Amino acid sequence: MKTRIVSGIQPTGNLHLGNYLGAIRNWVRMQDETAAAGGDCFFFLADLHAITVYNDPAELRANVRAMAAALIAAGVDPARATLFNQAAVPAHAELAWLLNCTARIGWLNRMTQFKEKSGKNREGASIGLYAYPVLQAADVLLYGASHVPVGEDQKQHLELARDIATKFNTDYHVDLFRLPEPIIPPAAARIMSLRDGGAKMSKSDPSDASRINLTDDVDTIAAKIRKAKTDPEPLPDTAEALDGRPEARNLVGIHAALGDESVADVLARHAGQGFGQFKPMLAERLVETLRPIGARLAELARDPAELDRLLAAGAARARDAAAPMLAGAYDALGLSRQQ
Ligand code: TYM
Repeated sequence: MKTRIVSGIQPTGNLHLGNYLGAIRNWVRMQDETAAAGGDCFFFLADLHAITVYNDPAELRANVRAMAAALIAAGVDPARATLFNQAAVPAHAELAWLLNCTARIGWLNRMTQFKEKSGKNREGASIGLYAYPVLQAADVLLYGASHVPVGEDQKQHLELARDIATKFNTDYHVDLFRLPEPIIPPAAARIMSLRDGGAKMSKSDPSDASRINLTDDVDTIAAKIRKAKTDPEPLPDTAEALDGRPEARNLVGIHAALGDESVADVLARHAGQGFGQFKPMLAERLVETLRPIGARLAELARDPAELDRLLAAGAARARDAAAPMLAGAYDALGLSRQQ
């Protein structure tokens, strides 16, 4: 069966280094490899996921465009990959409802992201935040995804998608949904906050110093790395010796991911160095990687009408691609759509 890559990102705030190294860089690589092998890619802005917590409508609208521009600047090519926003393809919300009736409450109760995001006020969280992983399952099952490139934090949601697909196929005696495989990068599966090695780098962290944004300029990147939390010990010569040093592990991990190396490779060169030496070099590597993306992004931001046109064209393609699977799901359930 042909390779089909599907993945999404929430259009909230800036694209940051965690998104880039954990997911987007893999999207771009897979886009090239997949096209060469006769497969295809679907990448989308998960705006329906963004509204599971309150989002200012004007900001959300602007963020969809800004995130689309950031993805294109990072290398997503709308001529080769289908790039669109989820709300423009109603089949996502429709299939999510059908799958809500297959997913079990017990399965959703195990989702760690819901527990984190709802915090202590679980009763006050939206039903959407709770059912969020079912929409995510619909996102990938709708297109018959074979592979889903994501960071480590989405692994549990992907496992749920596989459970929902299996139960649906079994309950309704069909071979409809394909089971998607996650693709998680080894060195960059979980990029951590620059201020706290125990928390992942995230758009929702109130401190901008906790993350590198793809739009940060050279001086900002240098300052954020200089101020990044570390410890006074020099770098060790084995990866195991970084256990218990989460901030040090994170900076070495970022360096490794930037150069497509393992943590052990980086330590083989830099063991014995203190962070006074290591940090400026890391900042330089970051700037090298991010500067061209920032420059392309500034260019794209000048032409919002073109971005809208690209997203509209992507949505039209996605609607066509989604139609057969949605029809198959209605049919399997015995639901008539005759008008
Ligand atoms: P989101 O928008 O939080 O993140 C987008 C992608 O970036 C990865 N990521 C990270 N990787 C490594 N280190 C980090 N600190 C880090 N932070 C984020 C995420 O794992 C993700 O791959 N629910 C999803 C969006 C979504 C989706 C989907 C993804 C909706 N439907 C279907 C895949 C398939 C989310 O909120 O990602």
